[in-house]
Amino acid sequence: MPLGGPSRTICCGSPKQAARLGRSVAPLLYQIHTVGLGYPAALRVADIAHQSVASHQPSPAIGTRTFSTTNANRLRDVFPAKETTYIRKTPPAWAHPGYTEEEMLAVTPAHRPPKTVGDWVAWKLVRIARWATDFATGIGRDQQVDMKNPTTAVVAQKPLTEAQWLVRLIFLESIAGVPGMVGGMLRHLHSLRRLKRDNGWIETLLEESYNERMHLLVCTKMAEIGWFMKTMILGAQGVFFNAVFLSYLISPKITHRFVGYLEEEAVHTYTRLLHEIEQGDLPRWSDPKFQIPEIAVTYWRMAEGKRTMRDLILYIRADEAVHRGVNHTLGNLDQVEDPNPFVSEYKSGAEQRKPSAVLKGIGYERDEVIG
Ligand SMILES: [Fe+2]
Ligand SMILES: [Fe+2]
Repeated sequence: MPLGGPSRTICCGSPKQAARLGRSVAPLLYQIHTVGLGYPAALRVADIAHQSVASHQPSPAIGTRTFSTTNANRLRDVFPAKETTYIRKTPPAWAHPGYTEEEMLAVTPAHRPPKTVGDWVAWKLVRIARWATDFATGIGRDQQVDMKNPTTAVVAQKPLTEAQWLVRLIFLESIAGVPGMVGGMLRHLHSLRRLKRDNGWIETLLEESYNERMHLLVCTKMAEIGWFMKTMILGAQGVFFNAVFLSYLISPKITHRFVGYLEEEAVHTYTRLLHEIEQGDLPRWSDPKFQIPEIAVTYWRMAEGKRTMRDLILYIRADEAVHRGVNHTLGNLDQVEDPNPFVSEYKSGAEQRKPSAVLKGIGYERDEVIG
């Protein structure tokens, strides 16, 4: 059954119809089809994520549901494991540091009030991005949270559907993996050409982008992405990569602040998703029997009996909280001289100064961690 109800005509025969055009865009994400390819333009959602690691064959579509008007006989695994003659498996190259359950449960949405003009610009850009994402995801008025507290309020009149969640998560995660790679790359090049140490920033930034890519891969194991969505991701990456590249060259401080605000949104998004799973609002994901992708179990080393969708979202949310705390803190530091406090060893007697990004959403001021 199509997500947006019966198909709508988008020909603007009257002003009323024209006014409804905007609201029709998002449902169309689910309804446009690729003629001849046999899969929907946006995505299909799986009841059970792909578990097969050894097969090149598409997974059978037992229990899958399509949000298109074309019947789906199969849900294709977008990146099936590549079988080779000698290699058994390729584990994650960057081991996840892990969290305690207390740390994950203690994460809350937070907002760092802008203090400088640069902060304000970064915050406003993120507000615009949030509006655009809500629009593109087809979020109705009744699905909005209290917009007076958009980064901390998580309760809405009506939950998002799982398909809306996946469109949102896949698109956002494909964007979120960009800034860390750009920042790490530019600092790497800076170190090479200036013949100077970087003091630990590069690895943290690259690890952030690696972690975001893992979020994306996990989400894409739960859906089949169509050509329309792929085109949106391609276009967004082209624009966003260049924008972040230029902005990091001009002002790394404002860019870190921008990412800090973006990560506030990510923590908010996953907290709301967690709330809707716990409320039982999402039929598949609220079910403790829903099988999360194997790639997630391996990456976060999720314990037996702790592998529900709720457990998975707790891990991802904690990662986002780390990105939020790290970027807000880095945005407060001297971009050229200061070492990265998150990977530094502290002098004896000052060990308590070592920051814990996961717990401090608004980040640390420079005098708290550098002195
Ligand atoms: Fe993420
Ligand atoms: Fe993030």
